[in-house]
Amino acid sequence: MALIIDGKKISLEIRDEIREETGKLKEKEIETSLAVVLVGNDPASAVYVRNKKKACEYCGIKSLSYEMPETTSESELLKLIDELNCNNDVNGILVQLPLPKHINEQKVIEAILPSKDVDGFHPQSVGALSIGIPGFVSCTPAGIIQLLKRSGISASGKECVIAGRSNIVGKPMAMLMLRENATVTIAHSKTVDLKSVCKRADILITATGRPKMFNSDYIKEGAVVIDCGMDRDENGKLCGDVDFDDVLPHCSAITPVPGGVGPMTIAMLMTNCLEALKIQHRI
Ligand code: GUN
Repeated sequence: MALIIDGKKISLEIRDEIREETGKLKEKEIETSLAVVLVGNDPASAVYVRNKKKACEYCGIKSLSYEMPETTSESELLKLIDELNCNNDVNGILVQLPLPKHINEQKVIEAILPSKDVDGFHPQSVGALSIGIPGFVSCTPAGIIQLLKRSGISASGKECVIAGRSNIVGKPMAMLMLRENATVTIAHSKTVDLKSVCKRADILITATGRPKMFNSDYIKEGAVVIDCGMDRDENGKLCGDVDFDDVLPHCSAITPVPGGVGPMTIAMLMTNCLEALKIQHRI
């Protein structure tokens, strides 16, 4: 029977570890803080931001909330980021994406000081990851590494196929799996014969946003299957990129949706905040 990797449980373990550490730091009067910036009225973003603030509260991290109207100009947002960069009481800065269309997202990402870039989106963070020097790592891929390690799954020497090449998941995931000594393939929408490429994988990581597209035809017997999808099926029910029921009998381990990769993203954001504090306080 396949192991169903419980991301909710593992994320709670991580949150408890952080809470313990922030508690000890508070005894020394050191407080960890995250600035959370939300521009506009995107309903999904509002939910994500609310969950991030709730996680901060649980983990003993102070969240500073900046909610700005849809009409905020790019220069107003850049001015706020500049202030947060200079504020020694702010350890991490998170600007929720997507931003309204009139704001250049890349410019905003690049304005965040790399030492406060807890999302790991700054080009310096991305470059650091690719050459293997310290830096913040995008939260979803970092969370997947934790899921594997805490489930006793080694990637060393294994064939890893990542379906999806986004800057937030696919590309950083590839770098992390390479760091874990896997042999890595990034597949994408133009890949020829995706099924046979995926069937080579000892570890298959899907991040395509296509509901239930990966059925058992894509799976090598005994593979580990990690599903980053947060999709909706034909009935509007939350599902992943993987056809869970069809794949389950063929794999050795699998993440469910919901309750797999999803909860890990916020747990790793909390980890990055604590890391930012340690870097800034040189502890
Ligand atoms: N929008 C969707 N996912 C993310 C994320 O991980 N970080 C930020 N800042 N915005 C997002």
